[in-house]
Amino acid sequence: TLTWCPLKFGELVSVGVYHTLMSEVKWYKEYVWKSFIFFFSETHAWTGNFVTISNKMKKIAIAADHGGFELKDSMVEYIKSLGNEVMDLGTNSADSVDYPDYAKKVCEEIQQGNSDLGILICGTGIGMSLAANKFEGIRAACVSDVYSAKMSRNHNNANVLCIGARVIGDEVAKLIIKTFLENEFEA
Ligand code: RB5
Repeated sequence: TLTWCPLKFGELVSVGVYHTLMSEVKWYKEYVWKSFIFFFSETHAWTGNFVTISNKMKKIAIAADHGGFELKDSMVEYIKSLGNEVMDLGTNSADSVDYPDYAKKVCEEIQQGNSDLGILICGTGIGMSLAANKFEGIRAACVSDVYSAKMSRNHNNANVLCIGARVIGDEVAKLIIKTFLENEFEA
C-alpha cells in the first residue's frame, strides 16, 4: 500500500481512468470539430486554427498580351499539373495586341461564373491589373512576390492575379501562381 498517499488504491485507479477518459473525450471532440470543418470547406490542409489553403480543383481563365504570351503558355501546363482546369484565352503569338482586350476576356469568364479565378500576364502586370479592375466584381492584384500572392487571397480576396513576364522568371511565376491558387480568403 502507498502509505504517503491520501487516496486508497481503488480511488487512485478511478482518478487514472477518469484522466484517460477525459483525454480521449478531448481528442474525440477535436477530431469531430476538425472533420466538420474539413467536410464543409472541401479542403485538404490546415494552417493554424483555420483553413486557408485549398487543393480543390479550380477553373482558371488565363490570358496574356504579346509581352506575356510565352510565360502564359508555359504556365498553362503548370496550372494543369496542379490539378486545375485551364481556359486559355490567348494571345498565342508575339504579334502586337491590346492588353485590355485580353483582360476583358478573363474578367467576363469570371463574371459569368465560368471560371473561379483568373490570371493575366503582360510585360509588367500593371496594364492588365489596371484594365481588369475596371470590371465589376473583379479584384485584380499585380504581384511579383510569394508573400503578396498569399495575402492577395487571404486578406484581399483577389480573384485575378496579374504578373509581369518581363519582371519575374518562370520559377518565381510558378511559386506565385501556386500560392495564389491554393490560398483562400480568410474573411
Ligand atoms: C507591351 O509592350 C507592354 O507595354 C505591356 O505588355 C504591359 O507591360 C503593359 O502594362
